[in-house]
Amino acid sequence: MSQHKNLDSHNSRLQSYYKFHSLIYDRTRWLFLFGRKSLVHFLPISNKDHFNMLEVSCGTGHNLYNFANYFSNVKIKGIDVSKDMIKKCQSKIHLFKDRIELINDTYSDSSFQKKESFDVILFSYTLTMTGFQNKIMLIQALRDLKPGGIILVVDFHKTNYKFFEMHMKNNHVDMYGQIVPILEQHYGTLSLDIEKAYYNLWSYFTFVGIKPYKLK
Ligand SMILES: C[S@@+](CC[C@H](N)C(=O)[O-])C[C@H]1O[C@@H](n2cnc3c(N)ncnc32)[C@H](O)[C@@H]1O
Repeated sequence: MSQHKNLDSHNSRLQSYYKFHSLIYDRTRWLFLFGRKSLVHFLPISNKDHFNMLEVSCGTGHNLYNFANYFSNVKIKGIDVSKDMIKKCQSKIHLFKDRIELINDTYSDSSFQKKESFDVILFSYTLTMTGFQNKIMLIQALRDLKPGGIILVVDFHKTNYKFFEMHMKNNHVDMYGQIVPILEQHYGTLSLDIEKAYYNLWSYFTFVGIKPYKLK
């Protein structure tokens, strides 16, 4: 199968998954998408600074709301492939609609009509869901960041339990520690925190990285 067909079928699987899950997302995900609340404190930026940011796969807008609320001068773009998630997001970020723009699309090199580069790009519980696309997305983010720009990532790290790994796989999540090495390969590491969830049933990580001034 060609890369394009793979991508189309992966994205249409996600579209149908989120048709239902967008309805229960906010009521259920706080139970296991840990680390999102404290993300605002990981950025080496003051809450009055002016900067622009992109959240790749913004979902229902949990992070968009938190960032716009904490950083009073940030301008944010949120992109997501699922129209059902974007619909939920629209009502959540209503208060900040002058500073947040939503795009319903797949994140790729043709995502933005007007080319823009960002001070910060956020990936929150996305890269473990995007299969073979994760590396492509991280390389795209290198192009979309300004020199010296910051990448912020929170996501599942790994589990020592095969049954749980399979259960997550059935929910489109790959969790075997594959993301951190890709981040470390392409970005300068500013910090990496790994935390346990539910007595180490799994671990999750928060990574803060910098786009190198000279790309490899
Ligand atoms: C687990 S949710 C995370 C949402 C949000 N970042 C959060 O932390 O709550 C994953 C999201 O990624 C989106 N997504 C997956 N692949 C994508 C892609 N290639 N481009 C844009 N969005 C994508 C899905 O539609 C879904 O909304």
